[in-house]
Amino acid sequence: MKKLHATSQTILSVLRQSGGDISGEDLCRDLKISRAAVWKHIQSLRELGYAIGSATHRGYRLTAAPNLPLPWEIEGHLETARLGREIEYCAVAESTNPLAIEAAKNQAAEGFCVVADQQKQGRGRLRRPWFSPPSRNLYLSVVLRPPIAPLALPQISLIAALALTRACKDWLPESADIRVKWPNDVFVNQGKVAGILCESASETDRVHYAVVGIGVNLNLKREDLPGEIADTATSLQIVGGSEVDRPRFAANLLNHLEPMYFAWCRDGLADFLPELEEMSLMRDRQVDVETVSGRRSGIAVGITEDGGLRLRNPQNDHEEVVYCGDISLTPVD
Ligand code: BTN
Repeated sequence: MKKLHATSQTILSVLRQSGGDISGEDLCRDLKISRAAVWKHIQSLRELGYAIGSATHRGYRLTAAPNLPLPWEIEGHLETARLGREIEYCAVAESTNPLAIEAAKNQAAEGFCVVADQQKQGRGRLRRPWFSPPSRNLYLSVVLRPPIAPLALPQISLIAALALTRACKDWLPESADIRVKWPNDVFVNQGKVAGILCESASETDRVHYAVVGIGVNLNLKREDLPGEIADTATSLQIVGGSEVDRPRFAANLLNHLEPMYFAWCRDGLADFLPELEEMSLMRDRQVDVETVSGRRSGIAVGITEDGGLRLRNPQNDHEEVVYCGDISLTPVD
């Protein structure tokens, strides 16, 4: 989607700041444009979902903004230096990850984001689909260029998951039980609320780019959840009971992620381990991990400085570390 026209943007800010009626005449005079031009800009804002009332003799009034992750709405809440400073918005995308990968290959700057209202082919890990209906959630992919060894790349998912827990905390009541499920999911009250799909390109000793794709169930209602995920997924609205402001959530997530990401690039994962362990869904529980080399089982006793999951065999206290895989809690008989 093209950027919002600068004049439409100005009209939007003027309407927002005034909080009341602004006459068409005042807008024409201040912006040095014709009445017809003002009308055209008002119409294009309405087409985007802004509710703008107009009454003869009183003028225009903004009564509601759409709950869409529009770039200028996100930017209004951003406190970052790099992340989200350039955002491409798509009303409908196949998936935001390939769009961000394409941009990364074309030299997009670190922090460039692609955001969509809806994804037709939302991608999850392990080639699973990611439920991506319109008007509800956040689908965001951010381009990063970490100056780290490619081997350390999987740790990015842990950093993003931790940033997500902080962003969720800002929206949920104290009583909500927010957890990271190693290596890259966020759970709230035992339901999956967010997932991360990191795709990257590197050579032996250098990362070209990493695209961190983040999906968050924000305003799904129970009845929106399709059968396949009805028992395992949840949303911030289901847990918190109120509608989440999508652009504000997106900005807040990037505000959390940026300082964590730069600290991790500089100092590694060690400083984040206490928080990761405190937030862990699996900690001290018996788990199974499906890895490429087969199934591993044990008690999840912690995370290593290089992002691996420590599994202890309760029979002989032997410990092993796994670095990637699909993890599940072992049901207790
Ligand atoms: C998972 O838990 O399996 C990862 C889900 C990742 C979903 C996000 S939504 C934004 C980005 N675009 C995609 O197609 N996938 C990621």
